[in-house]
Amino acid sequence: RAEVVTVDVVVHIVHAHDGQNLTEEQIDGQIAVLNEDFRATNADVKNVPAVWQGLIADSRIEFRRASTDPEGNPTTGVTRRRTNKTAFSDNDAIKFTAQGGTDAWPADRYLNIWVGQLSGGLLGYAQFPGGPAETDGVVITHTGFGTTGTAAAPFNLGRTTTHEIGHWLNLFHIGGDDGTGCSGSDFVADTPNQAGQNFGTPNFPSITCNNGPNGDMFMNYMDYTDDAAMVMFTHGQVLRVEACLAGPRRSLLT
Ligand code: ARG
Ligand code: ZN
Ligand code: CA
Repeated sequence: RAEVVTVDVVVHIVHAHDGQNLTEEQIDGQIAVLNEDFRATNADVKNVPAVWQGLIADSRIEFRRASTDPEGNPTTGVTRRRTNKTAFSDNDAIKFTAQGGTDAWPADRYLNIWVGQLSGGLLGYAQFPGGPAETDGVVITHTGFGTTGTAAAPFNLGRTTTHEIGHWLNLFHIGGDDGTGCSGSDFVADTPNQAGQNFGTPNFPSITCNNGPNGDMFMNYMDYTDDAAMVMFTHGQVLRVEACLAGPRRSLLT
């Protein structure tokens, strides 16, 4: 696919108090980050080590706030509701109006992003392609959403949403989700095999699973490093994303 495609987004703000009722600025800041990260126009992509600069990939996906709601009426692409739930877990309650959250918009036409207070330090989670429409999308804790307002270091560069949308587009963690083992895979050819996830801001090279001399690609969005340390998708990852958008998520592009 040569052309750039656009995904319509609805952001569901689920707030327990006014401080969680995020500003338009915080929402727009997050959308801007997505448009940089998925086009590889983020300034910090220059931090990728020279040996991997050639693997940096532009996914040619852009994101915009939906301008038409499911009933065909004009919208800002944001819903807001007050909830009496002080925190949400990964049990999907935030995705249902009857459980204190907000019902999804049709997942064949919109990327649903729910934003609220998550519990237990959970930054976010995602549903992979192929799941139920009622729960499809990504969930992000408000302190990890956008770059201003309630966004808090070291997760205040909007990368949690980039990472979770990566899952939503069928990308696995580059550590292969086998704990700290070396037998798991992300099914991407150009990401080095690595052991577990990396955290914080590692130094290059960080060698595991005999992957020297260059080591783990800890600066990939699908690792677990701090927002400031994750800066790239690879060509191989973009192939998986393109297959997803040509397959299970093709209805989003029409
Ligand atoms: N699902 C992961 C978590 O909640 C997201 C990690 C995102 N990492 C980041 N640097 N923003 O822990
Ligand atoms: Zn993840
Ligand atoms: Ca592994």
